Amino acid sequence: MSNPEFHPGLADVPAAESAVSFIDGKRARLEYRGIAVETLAKDSFFEESAWLLLKGVLPRQKELADFDHGLIKERTIHFRLLDALKCLPESGHPMSALQAGTAALAMFHPMPDVHNAQANWEAVIRLIAKLPTIVAAFHRLRQGHEAIPPREDLGHAANFYYMLFGKEPSPAVTKVLDACLVLHAEHTMNASTFSARVTGSTLANPYTVIASAIGTLTGPLHGGANEEVLDMLDEIGAPEKAKSWLDDAVATKKKIMGFGHRVYKVKDPRASVLQDLAEKVFAETSKPVCYLTATSLEAAAIPVLGPKGIYPNVDFYSGSVYQNLGIPKDLFTPIFAIARVVGWLSHWLEQIGNNRIYRPEQIYIGQRDQHYVPLEQRP
Ligand code: CMC
Repeated sequence: MSNPEFHPGLADVPAAESAVSFIDGKRARLEYRGIAVETLAKDSFFEESAWLLLKGVLPRQKELADFDHGLIKERTIHFRLLDALKCLPESGHPMSALQAGTAALAMFHPMPDVHNAQANWEAVIRLIAKLPTIVAAFHRLRQGHEAIPPREDLGHAANFYYMLFGKEPSPAVTKVLDACLVLHAEHTMNASTFSARVTGSTLANPYTVIASAIGTLTGPLHGGANEEVLDMLDEIGAPEKAKSWLDDAVATKKKIMGFGHRVYKVKDPRASVLQDLAEKVFAETSKPVCYLTATSLEAAAIPVLGPKGIYPNVDFYSGSVYQNLGIPKDLFTPIFAIARVVGWLSHWLEQIGNNRIYRPEQIYIGQRDQHYVPLEQRP
């Protein structure tokens, strides 16, 4: 190719053909396999939406029952993996523990060949089922508690909550957590999904593919933003301080965490659903300062940043919801990961179903034809 054009961040460059999800960034529209995400968050649930993303259509009753059964049976993790988690520093970030635990799954379940559809499906189920167990186990262990084994009589979201806290969530809490998982399950060609597709394109095993994606999700410009939003709201401290904090941030060209998106130029539909969920969660209690500060900040920011197409994204309200459920801040991104694993795996299946290894071009801007100067002769 002669004189290829460089697009920093690959903005507007298609990296794949995909039928998994669709975004219309001007109309605040996100669809999983053609179905609006708001509908799925309200009327569906994680396991059903996961099947939809993975298979392309809503499951029949028997298919869903078998899928559920498979997930439940795969929830436990090997005692050696639990031992490995015990050896990790308790001060380490749970995303690192999740990445390490997921990478280790490749050693427990070697998969030298990714051309066996049955083995691939088993790996898909295993990954979706085990990631919550790894996160919850590490969280318990780092506090000096025993890990809580998964239960077979709870759905995916309720079981995760149970493994974290040792008590069953109320139906209302289960619905909120489940809807959060649905909302985070997939989002077209984001950085971590691209990472999964790149690793998948080498025909690496799926555990390694997902470990790559988890690493990519950790960064504050991507999944890690949900933690940073809460830090920012804590720093602002009170709703009445939001406006002056924002003015200062804009003047110093500081980024507002939880705002802005490469694709959405209006408010992210997931942020709107999360805000509604937050309102429901807080209906029974009083609204926490962080949530009130967030709404004040949004109100102050819209007139300033809105004209530039910078609005709240999915991470802006998720932290307020999770915090109200008693979930520690450093588990926000791992929760993102246990949901997004479905999207990553859907893209992985699509990638290896019609694979060509990713090998993009670069535009070389360095020197050519230099001489080697021996060490003792260098100035
Ligand atoms: N606050 C203030 N200004 C912003 C923000 C923001 N949050 N986001 C973008 N801008 C400005 C940016 O300063 C730049 O202005 P200028 O053209 O004057 O230099 C312009 O908008 C374009 O920004 P960009 O960073 O080049 O845009 P991008 O498409 O490369 O990045 C983004 C998208 C999401 C990384 C960015 O908006 C951002 O850093 N947001 C804050 C972090 C965040 O909330 N990330 C979560 C993203 S959604 C969930 C996920 O993917 O995990």
